[in-house]
Amino acid sequence: MNKIIIANRGNSFFKVKGSKPLLHELRELGLDLPYGCQYGGCITCAAKLIEGKVDQRAQVALNNRQINDGYVILCVARAKTDCTFEIGVESHDKLYRNPFIDPLASHELKANIATRKDIKE
Ligand code: FES
Repeated sequence: MNKIIIANRGNSFFKVKGSKPLLHELRELGLDLPYGCQYGGCITCAAKLIEGKVDQRAQVALNNRQINDGYVILCVARAKTDCTFEIGVESHDKLYRNPFIDPLASHELKANIATRKDIKE
């Protein structure tokens, strides 16, 4: 069992088994969370991990910059330790940025989409 603290909901906490993704475990425990696709592709369920470790290898929505800023895709992530999160749209302050004002550097993209295989650099 891992303890999940929701920092921006009055430090409310939940005990999860890690047998299902956090979105499902936390919703079953009564926490209202936004979600869409439920397979790690749409970003709707993103939350900001403040402390702790998760396994979110199944997600395909986040780029490296978003992961480095602490974002976690709750519909596929499982807690590996006790964790503290900020949830909901108010946690999305660094999730998106205007690509015309502040474009991603190549190292911030996923390796398999950063370079077209049919173009030699
Ligand atoms: S609900 Fe779509 S990425 Fe989680």
